[in-house]
Amino acid sequence: MRRLIGWTAGVVGVAALARMLARRRGHHAPPPPAPAPVDDHAEALRRKLDETRAAEAPGLGTSAAGPPEREPEAAKESLDVRVIVRDVFATMDDLRQDYHLMLLSEVVPDFRATHQLRGLFELANYALAPGGRMVFNVFLARGGYTPDRGVREFGQQEYTSIFTRHEMSAAAAGLPLELVADDSVYDYEKEHLPEGAWPQTSWYANWVSGLDVFPVERDESPIELRWLVFQKRR
Ligand SMILES: C[S@@+](CC[C@H](N)C(=O)[O-])C[C@H]1O[C@@H](n2cnc3c(N)ncnc32)[C@H](O)[C@@H]1O
Repeated sequence: MRRLIGWTAGVVGVAALARMLARRRGHHAPPPPAPAPVDDHAEALRRKLDETRAAEAPGLGTSAAGPPEREPEAAKESLDVRVIVRDVFATMDDLRQDYHLMLLSEVVPDFRATHQLRGLFELANYALAPGGRMVFNVFLARGGYTPDRGVREFGQQEYTSIFTRHEMSAAAAGLPLELVADDSVYDYEKEHLPEGAWPQTSWYANWVSGLDVFPVERDESPIELRWLVFQKRR
């Protein structure tokens, strides 16, 4: 549990963890006022980024309950949480090497270059225990499509950084990490979310299908967001 929570806090997002804690607290603290619903996808993601960045990086924004305050808050809930606030690539020196799960939701679509993908696999190789798994979602090109520089840069403006299968394999090359699951975010979440929970927002289904970059029918899109699971060899 400690390992899962540690990575969830550090990588998935402190804001999300705080929301979870707040939900568990229920009557002890009123929830913060909900922002007005947004139908525009880019605006909604921008808000999410602002919210998570404000919570994760005090230097980049302000937060009423920043990470230093969250460790005691988590302790009250008997959750053994260690919050690390920084660029995930800054250093590995103080990380444990026995995590069972690394989870990065909507983080890789923020990346800009293949060396960041490589950095992610090196991080997983360093921090995961044998048998541990790294789960992340990433926009992958389909059917041999290779985006040119213009498409990649436009994608980056739409929170849709695109990588090819070849770039993904090259990033993991030589490391003891094996791809054990590879699912379409659209198909997987539509099938597995509870009744009524899909799609999560008005724009989510189009965004995960790559339609913010390619305004075509879903099955014609040359990219899609996929959930990948890599496991470290035992
Ligand atoms: C679209 S938000 C997703 C937030 C949260 N994971 C979620 O699913 O709600 C993208 C997040 O990735 C984080 N991110 C991107 N690159 C990062 C890096 N190198 N180190 C740490 N965080 C990073 C951003 O700070 C931002 O919080």
